[in-house]
Amino acid sequence: MNFSKRLLWVFFSFSLILLKTGQGQQEKVNRIVVNADLGTETISKFIYGHFAEHLGHCIYGGIYVGEDSPIPNTRGIRNDVVEALKEIAPSVVRWPGGCFADTYHWRDGIGPQDQRPSIVNTHWGGVTEDNSFGTHEFLDFCEQIGAEPYICANVGSGTAQEAAEWVEYVNSDARSPMTELRKKNGREKPWSVKYWAVGNESWGCGGNMTPEYYADLYKRFSTYVRGRRLYRVASGGTDPDIAWTETILKKTQNYRNLIQGYSFHYYTFCHGWNDKSSAIQFNENDWFDTMKNTLIMEERLERHIALMDVYDPQNEIGLIADEWGNWFTVEPGTNPGFLYQQNTVRDAVTAALYLNIFNNHARRVKMANIAQFVNVLQAMILTKDDQLVKTPTFYVFKMYKVHHDAVLLPIHVTCEDYMFDGKTLPGISASASLDKQGVFHVSLCNIDMHKNKSIEIDLRGFDKLAKARGEIITAPKENDYNDFGKPEKVNIQKFSSFSVQDNILKIDMPAKSVVTLELKK
Ligand code: AHR
Repeated sequence: MNFSKRLLWVFFSFSLILLKTGQGQQEKVNRIVVNADLGTETISKFIYGHFAEHLGHCIYGGIYVGEDSPIPNTRGIRNDVVEALKEIAPSVVRWPGGCFADTYHWRDGIGPQDQRPSIVNTHWGGVTEDNSFGTHEFLDFCEQIGAEPYICANVGSGTAQEAAEWVEYVNSDARSPMTELRKKNGREKPWSVKYWAVGNESWGCGGNMTPEYYADLYKRFSTYVRGRRLYRVASGGTDPDIAWTETILKKTQNYRNLIQGYSFHYYTFCHGWNDKSSAIQFNENDWFDTMKNTLIMEERLERHIALMDVYDPQNEIGLIADEWGNWFTVEPGTNPGFLYQQNTVRDAVTAALYLNIFNNHARRVKMANIAQFVNVLQAMILTKDDQLVKTPTFYVFKMYKVHHDAVLLPIHVTCEDYMFDGKTLPGISASASLDKQGVFHVSLCNIDMHKNKSIEIDLRGFDKLAKARGEIITAPKENDYNDFGKPEKVNIQKFSSFSVQDNILKIDMPAKSVVTLELKK
């Protein structure tokens, strides 16, 4: 070949590549390497935790209807909700808030219900709170669903003595005015609540404090909020506020026995706090923005973890992501203060994104609590009178149960980008674990709203793969959701679009879907 022919040949081959990849971009292979033999960290089941605040119909109507309600209940707690929640094995529930916690005086919520005072829920809708759901009812609810309680003490408008007495009332078996009162109210044995938050969002609704002031207050409260095995959690700042985190860690450095956890909150707002969009009416621009804002969480989380590694190199303080999820506009016609939103395939995909991120940071993330349990924000369950709907997010929690207390397997993901309007995001997210029975699970989500993905999973360090089984959550439309009185559109289905050869799994993963594969030797 002479020189000009060779040049022509090079030009021709190059054009072919450009044509093939569409935009002149080298096509990436979607490849995940799972290091099946390198797991060291456990994914705490508490990463699969929940949050129930006195907000809208989360407690009243959602969880609690009172003993006289025609809705079947056990001591006022809805039987249908309890039965449904058991399906997702809820590990821990945070209560009573949220912003409500720093207005809550626990003594208002004990004793005969008809003698409890009513207050105004100033944060959420200005409605009357009759305190019929208090400490006993919350702990009864936790026992009914088999979850660990996590109580948030009032620092904003409460006192250290009030918080200390609450702990004594709930946990002590010594004779004291508090334990006598508990017994008088019908509970002989203490509950032994281990997890206690010392204030909530103390930078904002929890008292608008500076980090220096809060750190001192935290130490003061924690000195009196005490007992064997207590796990106390300090309030974090806003998610990007590294300075708050540094101040708290620095000022508690010589008081390590007083701090076991540090709280981190992150919400996904589609287009931002002031420009939230609807939970069910959205286009691809909204979808992309929701994915992008969810993925930003990982970077924020890692910045806090890096700082914790400096101040706590022994990894003793847990990062407690005790509020997370999608925050959209309320459904038309509902009280804006009640934060009631529907839940679609988009919520399922972002829930999986969040959970993959928490799983993969299990070394430091010891608990996470999605906001919120029932009828509020990215809920597991929605209720209307005596009806109940399980949301797409519920099904992600059900599917991901396999990761509870399993050993995290380090993975490496190489993937195509999800492209929209000239912007790009990594198209696939994944996490993997090995459970106590020796079964492997790989969870994946394809965040691309339109494009299916061919994915190869290389099971490194895995003896011969003998059996594989899959489950998927998706639906024909990205804004499909489950509604009252209608057949479910989004739930868990069997997934079999994969093949296995020599420990390589080849998967054809649909757009906008979440998949979990179970792999056995
Ligand atoms: O989950 C709703 C609210 O969001 C919580 O009450 C508060 O802590 C956060 O700002």
